[in-house]
Amino acid sequence: EAPLRVALAGCGVVGGGLLNRLLPDKRYEVVGVLVRNPAKKRDVAAPADLFTNDVEALLAKKPDLLLEAMSEGEAGHALIRRALEAGCDVVSANKQAVARDPAGLQALAAANGCRVAWSASVGGGAPMIETLRAARAAGPVAGFEAVLNGTVNFMLQRLGEGAAFADALSDARVAGFAEEDPSSDLEGHDAAAKVKLLSFEAFGRAPADLPRDELSAETPLGDRPVRQIGACHDRGGRLEASVRLDGDLKDALFQSLNGERNALKVYGQDGRVWTCKGRGAGRWATTESVLADVADVVRARRAAAELV
Ligand code: NAP
Ligand code: HSE
Repeated sequence: EAPLRVALAGCGVVGGGLLNRLLPDKRYEVVGVLVRNPAKKRDVAAPADLFTNDVEALLAKKPDLLLEAMSEGEAGHALIRRALEAGCDVVSANKQAVARDPAGLQALAAANGCRVAWSASVGGGAPMIETLRAARAAGPVAGFEAVLNGTVNFMLQRLGEGAAFADALSDARVAGFAEEDPSSDLEGHDAAAKVKLLSFEAFGRAPADLPRDELSAETPLGDRPVRQIGACHDRGGRLEASVRLDGDLKDALFQSLNGERNALKVYGQDGRVWTCKGRGAGRWATTESVLADVADVVRARRAAAELV
């Protein structure tokens, strides 16, 4: 069987992890790697001629599968659309790209006979989208609450232990948890995009309004643990959503959540509850999550090919 032709977009924390895993694996042929600066020194040993900053050159390689792990939402969204229009399967880790229009991306994939998946974009290595799908399959969902940002959770723990704000942020960046522009983490935009994607799974739509609390060096933090909680509840057909800094935690799942860990609690309308917890950020947790989507996509490709 011929190897799957894979194009990669982004070669930072996540894309670099993926390239490390794909290059020695004979099941895949990496046909190109899209980056902003092809000459940049990277922490992966790859042939220099794989790297390009030319979208057209990447798509001209006719990949079967695009792995999208770029740090820019708009560019990621445009590239995903281009790939799907060309009939290429897509797996993305880029929540700012896919949260723009998840229904539109799924419809575009279906119209072009291909698949799109973005499990790694919410919860990193924690199977949050899968947990919500399981809850949704069991019956109508009343709402969910979650810790969705590894950087903020890691920083809140460090700040609670007495670290300086700048040190806590710097450590989160060095560890590979923070976004390229960490204001996305600190101002709650990252968690808000994840709330939208989970709402799409739970309710088939995203909330219209999503107020956010911001974490800064001036944020007053008391003696009790504080967590950033993203939530969305169905209030009689109206979606009420927010990203809040909560210093009055009632739930042991969130109280005990340390480091870059994320956790999710889903409430069914019949009173049932689903939870999941895991590493929400970082190279290897996220790489494994993208590769889990790849395995699903490859299986679906094969099943579709058998039917032809
Ligand atoms: P990163 O280390 O900052 O890497 C971003 C990569 O995107 C870089 O290689 C950059 O190219 C490339 N890039 C950005 N804009 C581009 C454009 N317009 N055209 C071509 N290439 C472009 O980011 P990361 O941490 O790997 O995260 C990548 C994505 O995964 C983000 O959307 C993030 O939200 C998501 N994610 C990250 C984690 C995590 O723990 N880090 C977890 C889950 C999801 P250059 O190298 O040339 O600058
Ligand atoms: N910056 C994000 C976080 C990466 O800290 O959670 C994972 O989506």
